[in-house]
Amino acid sequence: MDTLISGNILTFEGNPFDHPALSAVTVQPDTAVRVRAGKIVEIGPRATLLVAYPEAVHHAYGDNLVMPGFIDAHAHYPQTAMIASWGKRLIDWLNTYTFPEESKFSDPAYAAQIAELYLDLLLANGTTTVTSFCTIHPTSVEALFRAAAARGMRIVAGKTCMDRDTAPAYLRDTAQSAYDDSKALIERWHGNGRATYAITPRFSPTSTPEQLDALGKLWAEYPTCLMQTHLSEQTDEIEWVKGLYPNARDYLDTYEQFGLVREGALFGHAIHLERREIDRLREMDCSVIHCPTSNTFIGSGLFDMGARTRDGLRVGLATDTGGGSSFSMLRTMAATYEVGQLTHTALHPAQLLWLATFGSAHALHMSDKVGSIAVGMEADIAVIDLASTPAIAQRTLHVNDIWESIFPTIMMGDDRAIAATYVHGQRVAQPRDRTL
Ligand code: GUN
Ligand code: ZN
Repeated sequence: MDTLISGNILTFEGNPFDHPALSAVTVQPDTAVRVRAGKIVEIGPRATLLVAYPEAVHHAYGDNLVMPGFIDAHAHYPQTAMIASWGKRLIDWLNTYTFPEESKFSDPAYAAQIAELYLDLLLANGTTTVTSFCTIHPTSVEALFRAAAARGMRIVAGKTCMDRDTAPAYLRDTAQSAYDDSKALIERWHGNGRATYAITPRFSPTSTPEQLDALGKLWAEYPTCLMQTHLSEQTDEIEWVKGLYPNARDYLDTYEQFGLVREGALFGHAIHLERREIDRLREMDCSVIHCPTSNTFIGSGLFDMGARTRDGLRVGLATDTGGGSSFSMLRTMAATYEVGQLTHTALHPAQLLWLATFGSAHALHMSDKVGSIAVGMEADIAVIDLASTPAIAQRTLHVNDIWESIFPTIMMGDDRAIAATYVHGQRVAQPRDRTL
């Protein structure tokens, strides 16, 4: 049975960082998307499709924006319960809040409870795919992959690996157990349904060279996996890395030495980069993931979106929950805009929407599956109410074009703006559904 989803459909004709933004991203009114067996099979005028497919179930969203589901390219689902913890910078924040919370994930019941809560929060926020760190416990990975499979969600996740005495003893694995556990999880989950495995050294300060080496070898054995980690988030972290890896040319080199710098590598934050690092990231086709609410919340610094996109890097967008202070990609786009202003780049709303969907999908090497509304793509869709609160509604009374209608929701919107979320063609029950 076909489903028709109609409204203002957001489509991408190109990369709005390459082309004039207005021609690369279009919003087509009175348009319908036809969905069959979880995929988008046709896009056309609503009236035409209604006549052509009279048996199809029609979900009509009027003036709402029908767009690809958001793709959060870097998060820590185990930090759900300690999001918005006060007053620390990165290393202290990890030791004070993060590591004690992550220790709870040795309990499979707790891991399952938080994984389900977390994914439901994402769906309520219109996010249909996430790339998440787990904890050192394989049970934490099982819990997230299972919860995602139960919801039909495309997901990327991996066991966080930490074997160095810089991490607390209660939260350490070894080079060998990290390799063995990650391998077993890859065998079980990578390519299973909509799951992708990401080999996950937390960051070089909490891994020994032996562990990074083991994980580099594992990635060579399973080259279609992704690899996620952190890079150059805070300046004191960079100094720490230089002390721990005295022979490395720079922070990126601590990964590069062990085969962890290549296509499919996802580097969270990547704020304070040296020229060699930027050039190497581009040469090796790596992805950098911008986490703006985290970078301001933990006081890490300002990611220069204008410069990194001009450098030609793949850039994804992410909440970095719970260093980030929100589960919402709308809030994340607002923070991207604000940080852009502070780095002298006024990002167009079309660029922000592209980053939160296609840009993240491109960074994750899955833009042939998700991240846009186009024929052949999986039907992961967010429907956005552009007048979801009195404050936003009054602002949209005074607009001249569609972008002026959309921008207030990017800047001021939250989960109340999510009229519906579709995963693989199925409407999710939880978000407040406002079919007309
Ligand atoms: N660097 C290493 N681990 C983490 C983490 O959990 N959150 C953030 N923001 N940075 C990190
Ligand atoms: Zn992170």
